[in-house]
Amino acid sequence: MANTTQKSPAKRETFNSRLMFMMAAIGSAVGLGNIWRFPYVTYDNGGGAFLIPYLVALLTAGIPILWFDFAIGHRYRASAPLAFRRMARWAEPIGWFKAGVAFFIAIYYAAILAWAGLYTVKSFNQAWGDDPESYLMNDFLKMDSSSTFSGDFVLPILVTLIAVWIFAIAVLAMNVNKGIGSLTLVFVPVLIILFVIMVVRALFLDGALEGLNAFFTPDWSALSNTSVWIAAYGQIFFSLSVGFGIMITYASYLKPRSNLTGTGMTTAFANSSFEVLAGIGVFATLGFMSVTSHVAVGDVASGGIGLAFIAFPTIINQMPMGALFGVMFFGSLFLAGITSLISIMEVVFAALSEKLGWNRATTAIVFGTIMAVLSTVMFASTSSLVILDIMDKWTNNLGIVFCAAMALLIVAWVTGRRNEIAQHLNAVSSIRVGRIWEFCAFILTPVALIIMMFNEIKSMLAEPYGGYSSAQLNLFGWGTLAVIVIAGIVLSALPYSKKTITDRIPGSDFGVPAKGRRKGEPNPLVVGAVSSSTDATSTTSTTPRS
Ligand code: PHE
Repeated sequence: MANTTQKSPAKRETFNSRLMFMMAAIGSAVGLGNIWRFPYVTYDNGGGAFLIPYLVALLTAGIPILWFDFAIGHRYRASAPLAFRRMARWAEPIGWFKAGVAFFIAIYYAAILAWAGLYTVKSFNQAWGDDPESYLMNDFLKMDSSSTFSGDFVLPILVTLIAVWIFAIAVLAMNVNKGIGSLTLVFVPVLIILFVIMVVRALFLDGALEGLNAFFTPDWSALSNTSVWIAAYGQIFFSLSVGFGIMITYASYLKPRSNLTGTGMTTAFANSSFEVLAGIGVFATLGFMSVTSHVAVGDVASGGIGLAFIAFPTIINQMPMGALFGVMFFGSLFLAGITSLISIMEVVFAALSEKLGWNRATTAIVFGTIMAVLSTVMFASTSSLVILDIMDKWTNNLGIVFCAAMALLIVAWVTGRRNEIAQHLNAVSSIRVGRIWEFCAFILTPVALIIMMFNEIKSMLAEPYGGYSSAQLNLFGWGTLAVIVIAGIVLSALPYSKKTITDRIPGSDFGVPAKGRRKGEPNPLVVGAVSSSTDATSTTSTTPRS
């Protein structure tokens, strides 16, 4: 970088515009969870009545934690591990745990994208035939549920999965504007258009109304059930991509003057709108199936892989112009997923590039290749579905929940940076935060998360999840978590590259104009810490500690 002087350390890359950042954030939030998780979770937890806990969770946890993540990334201008380290040296492992969870989510998420990509093509001639379930399990995945690891590979999945990885690595090897920025700027609007067309089409199917009735009919008694409330918090967390380190990383690429709370609101409402739209589309389609095959909507309703790869193909078989509908559905799944995959990979790459002082391209290529190899070995094999199911459960229902709760509690109550973060948000944002935000972010949400975690552990210990063998559960579930913890501790112990500034630098205000501050008022944005992980030209790391 040419303009690097001793006074202004090399700048971190930034998104060119707020729109670009917003598209990246929305692209991350809108993913498989919106399309195949939300509709079923809603249906299963009181239908229309679920919208109340959902909205409460959105307002008390989703948006407050999104703001928290944005503030951490923006203020400490680093990926999760370095951001936490800048708050307190010993807090660095929390960031690495997040990156570790991100690592494992990325390697299985990519596999689902490969399947969605292949099914987009299969939609043209409905290659799944008359029995989509048997096709998925026996012909497509060649599922082997008994062995812990089969070692047999499925060629079409192998090839497609490699293609997904090459694409994702290529995007992340470019700078944030050319890579993440331009990709999401194109893919997110295309996804929305495609998805709206699909939903409108679904609304004109016979039986659409029955489906919507089943979806929206409120079961008010659900509101007195704690598990319904927990489900709402779980959905919001997963769906908004908060607590993963994603929003911290993305916000670290924002320009100093960026309206954090306003952007957060827009992102959250865009994500929830997409979710409700998906609920309408999915249930209108299920209504069609219920009418044509004379079964209750409840009998055909499902979520996840069963919904996308079994129920939808079955419906597409019966639908006039099903091929087109199939292409739109699986195409949407793929587009929604790819922008989420990239966001979760960036958590890992940004963290490692700062630690090692490598540039973006080298980090993406080296670690991307390692992830791609692991991902193909596990998920192009005939054991894929088993590993995926277990790894997903453990990383999401335990890993993320634990990291998110720890992050909130430690930042607020141990490092005592509650006010600092609130001040930061207020210094740059349109909507100001106060006591209510602090209560939601630092008391209510951690409590909800901890209850969630204990419930989960209780049910995992009560009976083997999914009926899998203990070898499978220990290796892919607990084993994954063990690897994340050990790697996190080891990485925290390793020193940062000399090129990376790890300390807070008093007095450096990364170019925030004094304008807007009252005279004499300290610049609340001053934390210094203008790192440049990737630039070889940054100043030394010998800056004095504050
Ligand atoms: N928010 C994404 C969704 O709704 C989930 C996600 C998980 C995104 C992990 C990235 C990483 O599907």
